[in-house]
Formats: sequence, C-alpha cells, structure tokens
Amino acid sequence: MARPFSNNGSYHRRDQILAVDLGSRTTKAVHLQRRGNNFRLARFAVLDAPIFDSVLTPEMLAEHLRAVSQALGAKTRQVALTTSVNDGLVRHVELPRLPVDEMRLVLKHNSRNYLQQDLANYVFDCHFLPPGTPANGPDGGKAPGVAKQKVLVAGGRRQLVDDYVQAAKSAGLVAEFIAPGLIGPVNAFEMTFPDIFANEVVALVDIGFKSSSICILQQGELVLSRVVNIGGDRLTAAVAEAISISYAEAEGIKVGMANEVEAVLESVLAPLATELRASLDFYEHQQDRHVAQVFLTGGSARSEFIVQALQTGLMTETKTWNPTAFLQMELPPQQAAEIERLAAQMAVAVGTAVAAL
Ligand SMILES: Nc1ncnc2c1ncn2[C@@H]1O[C@H](COP(=O)(O)OP(=O)(O)OP(=O)(O)O)[C@@H](O)[C@H]1O
Ligand SMILES: [Mg+2]
Repeated sequence: MARPFSNNGSYHRRDQILAVDLGSRTTKAVHLQRRGNNFRLARFAVLDAPIFDSVLTPEMLAEHLRAVSQALGAKTRQVALTTSVNDGLVRHVELPRLPVDEMRLVLKHNSRNYLQQDLANYVFDCHFLPPGTPANGPDGGKAPGVAKQKVLVAGGRRQLVDDYVQAAKSAGLVAEFIAPGLIGPVNAFEMTFPDIFANEVVALVDIGFKSSSICILQQGELVLSRVVNIGGDRLTAAVAEAISISYAEAEGIKVGMANEVEAVLESVLAPLATELRASLDFYEHQQDRHVAQVFLTGGSARSEFIVQALQTGLMTETKTWNPTAFLQMELPPQQAAEIERLAAQMAVAVGTAVAAL
C-alpha cells in the first residue's frame, strides 16, 4: 500500500477516520470505520471547494474543514488530508538500505542527489517495494557496502503540511495523516480488485478539474505516474466558448446533455487521450509489456460519454469502477441511494481513508 508523507509520527492502527480529498473544484470526504478486516462507510460529503483558482489560506481551509466536519456529522476528530497533484511528490528512488527514519533524513539532506530537485523544505515518507523489485545499477544493488533498496517516496512541502495541521486544529480536528492525492486511487484499487492489483498491468486515470493523473501499476507496484494539464474545467470552458453561453450553463449541458455537444467535448478529450496514450506507450516500449486495461475515476468519469470517448482515443479497454464496492455500507438511507452515482468521484477520499486505518 502506498504511503503518506505525514503520519503523525506513528503507524498505529486506528479504528476510524475522516478522510478529506481537497480537490481543486470539489471536496470529497468520507467517514470510514474499521472492524477487523472490514471497512465500513458511515457517511460521506461532497462540497464545493472554497476557491477554484488560487491558493487556500490556512484560515479558509480551517473554515472549510469545519463545514466538512459538520456535513459528516463527525463522530471522530481524527482526519486524513490530501495534497493536490502539484503539491505532493510521488517518486521511485533507489536508496541505501536504512530504517525509514534514517531514509527520511537522507532524502531531506540529499534531495538534489536522489530526487534531482532541491527539496530541503519538504517532509518525506518511504514505502519499501517488494523484495523481488530489482535495485538499480548493473549489479542489482548487490555491490558490497552499498546495498540499495527500491523505495516509493512521497513528499510534501513542510509549510503546507504545517498549514494543514494548524487548519485542522482550528477546525477542532486532528490531522493524523497527510498524503498525496495521486496515490488515493491506487490504495482504493488494491482493496477493490486485489487480484488484478497483484497480478496485472493496469493504468489508473483520475480526471480532475484542471488536471488529470495517470498511474501505471505493474503487479502491485506503482511504476509510472504523470500529470496532464487537462481536466473537467477545460471541457466546460470549451462548451461555453463554442456556443457562447456562460460557464454555469455550459456545466449543466456537459453534465446533463453531453450528446448535444459531442463534437466540442471530443475536441478536448482527444488531446487528453493522446497525452495519456503517450504515457502508456512510454511504459509499454520501455518494459515491453502491455497495459491491459485503463480504470477511470474523478468527477468526469461519472459521464458514460466521456468514458467512451477516452476509450476510443486510448485504443485500450477503458472503464469506470466503483472504489466503494469493498466497503460495508452503513450510510443513512438518503446517502445510500446516492453513493453509487458519486462513487467514481470518491476514489481519492476512500483510498486515503483506507491507507490511514
Ligand atoms: N456527471 C458528470 N459528467 C461530466 N462531468 C462531471 C460530472 N460530474 C462531475 N463532473 C466534472 O468533474 C469535475 C470535478 O471532478 P473532481 O471532483 O474529480 O475534481 P477535483 O478533485 O476537484 O479536481 P483535482 O483532482 O484536479 O484537484 C468538474 O469539472 C465537473 O464538471
Ligand atoms: Mg481530484
């Protein structure tokens, strides 16, 4: 399971958590409880993000988290938060074999060396990849004295993490766990389709607001991730421009009558598919392996038209999936009726919650 970069200093098991996916357009939140090996969904909430086009101040975030906590009727104060694809870093690195705490320090002091960027103001966490994963170098990392290990590193700016912790506190919550949103769908996918996760090569694509992400999973390992700067916002803006209507009207048409604006949506979805296909091609050529299926999440994946158009462009079996399917439903009746319709949009929140428990 992919790791966070801030885990409140401990890896103890919790029995319940609120997870808040701070999307750039829509906040998705869940309240998950653990009972033995089972996970229960007690409540969820979907709220507009406080602002769409600039950075949240800690005060605005605190006020927003208060609203989220209220919407969840929260019975716990422990919360897991996500960072956006542009704030959080997820990378595979070869590191000397060391305990995690020492690895974090090595990364902090040598980020230029290991991550090709100066990231002195970042906090990190490390997840060891399975022992079979080859380490780098022609000797497979077996040279005496420099044993290496392949590690999935997640990082976030220390200031952002501090702001999140402070905002949660002001909202009466405790930020127990902070992770890059990018790895949320990976964790939810592992729970939903354990066999496919363990044995196949698949791509998880999350279509967000300003951007979309692709993660290629090879037998349980995250081998490639990329961000493409096209998302639901571009689709709505294109509709608004093409037929000279307001953004809000265009949003309504996109969500309710996509077939009436097919050509416009296709003009945005085709370049998105091309970018995603380029990542698949890169992996397939490099590894000489085929990506069997593409699994879509994000708000736009709720649209059958969008899923079909992407499948056409990707030339690979492409489907949406339900990241809440592995959960026992303990929702109030009104929410129970709604969850299936919203499920594709909840992948990051669910995956973050399950990783935190
Ligand atoms: N039924 C639907 N059909 C088409 N598009 C939809 C539908 N429902 C939501 N969307 C679109 O999904 C987008 C929001 O998706 P999502 O909540 O996944 O983004 P986000 O998480 O806020 O963004 P990001 O991940 O980039 O920070 C909006 O552009 C919205 O128009
Ligand atoms: Mg998102």
